[in-house]
Amino acid sequence: MSEQQPNDRLQCRWVKPLVAGAGPRYVQIADLIGDAIRTGELSSGDQVPPQRILATALGVDLTTVTRAYGEARDRGLIASFSGRGSFVTSTEETAGEVRIDLSMNIPAQPSERRIASLALAAMEEVFKRQGDRRLSAYDTGDSNLSAIQAGQAWLRPAIGDLANGNLVMSAGTQAAIYAALQSISQKGESVLCEPLTYPGFLLATRKLGLNAVSVKVDEHGATPESIEEMHRATNAKVIYLNPTLQNPTTRTMPEKRRSDIANTLLKLKMTLIEDDPYWFLLNDAPPPLVTFTKGVRTYYMASLSKCLWPTLRTSFVLMPVGEENNLFLESLRSSGMGGSPLLYGLTEHWIRTGVARQIVLQVQGEARARQTLARSILPKNACSHPSGLHTWLALPSNWNRQVFVEILEQHGIIVAISDAFSAEENPENGVRISMGGAANQSELAHALKQISSLLMEDRRRTRTIV
Ligand SMILES: Cc1ncc(COP(=O)(O)O)c(C=O)c1O
Repeated sequence: MSEQQPNDRLQCRWVKPLVAGAGPRYVQIADLIGDAIRTGELSSGDQVPPQRILATALGVDLTTVTRAYGEARDRGLIASFSGRGSFVTSTEETAGEVRIDLSMNIPAQPSERRIASLALAAMEEVFKRQGDRRLSAYDTGDSNLSAIQAGQAWLRPAIGDLANGNLVMSAGTQAAIYAALQSISQKGESVLCEPLTYPGFLLATRKLGLNAVSVKVDEHGATPESIEEMHRATNAKVIYLNPTLQNPTTRTMPEKRRSDIANTLLKLKMTLIEDDPYWFLLNDAPPPLVTFTKGVRTYYMASLSKCLWPTLRTSFVLMPVGEENNLFLESLRSSGMGGSPLLYGLTEHWIRTGVARQIVLQVQGEARARQTLARSILPKNACSHPSGLHTWLALPSNWNRQVFVEILEQHGIIVAISDAFSAEENPENGVRISMGGAANQSELAHALKQISSLLMEDRRRTRTIV
């Protein structure tokens, strides 16, 4: 480094000499800034030295530093302001009010570092096995045959040999629901569903101009009689069901009901979209509906978002047996050009090495602990499964659900209101509380206690009647 003034030295205290032959010098300088931020030598808001001073300190041309700062700006490391200089940008999320978001149904990972280290180790293996070239290409369907084979093994406990049928991968179940609806329905048609159902399905129907029409349910879920009645009334050809740990009601349809519904659908020649992301979280879930329809006119969608990791964006989709399914495949491709070979490779690796089953066990364990906590805090009428990710809470009549969620939000707690799940105008008065959104069990306990004590307030009494 060249001769410097003491103040210049202070500004450049994090600077290290560049290394000959270690790549372009402007890149090395940008790397130095990145390293200094990572090690804490530079913090958000710190000014980086004026370019002239850094050029002198490093013994390089001013233009090299100008280019380096451009590179650092492109990486989001610094921001420059004319006349004021360049500053390190914020490296952390803006600290705001603490919010506990229990509105998203995600699995709580027992320890964040654990999923990170499992993913990193697997990525390394995936690159070693598949090579950069294969992982840099688009998913063409044929390119992920070995991941599909892993998926067939994965699904065998749920659907047996049916898994060997028309199985494809999709970048999440949401994309597959949209593609299925698009390929089998026409604008203006009706699609049957339960009165409270997965909001992503409702969103897809709205976008496609379809009418989501609800069938009657009892404690076991949709009734075959009502499916038949609504089919005749609306001419609906398609039904969407989520029979295991239903989102949001947490209901699991028993085996007999599944078989009765399958027979009804076969008789009516209706197509079924069976959305089954929670099956692996239960140890005693009945066989999926697809095993009763034998795959006829049935899309079976098994997302890994809930039992493993939403970041995988991976769902295995069994397409209807004995059909070409070209329209479905085209729809899937037209919206996303397939999934990520890297994530599919990671999924395959986790399945083949047994890591996927271990993660399910851990997710179940954490879900169980959280549900036990919830049962000790929430009122007895709250519905949940011991290893489920969410709880359904019907609100007492003195509580308007809109007011309830707004007050909770003012306390920094977010839950999902029944209207988001409703295929009908006037839904049940309730909220869904997802246990996985809290960072840890003590944060969850804090949120649940707030919910519980708010429930006990009698809103009618707070209004002065004269
Ligand atoms: C019933 C149901 N289906 C599908 C999804 C979304 O699945 P994916 O992440 O695979 O798109 C969810 C997410 O909450 C869900 O609850």
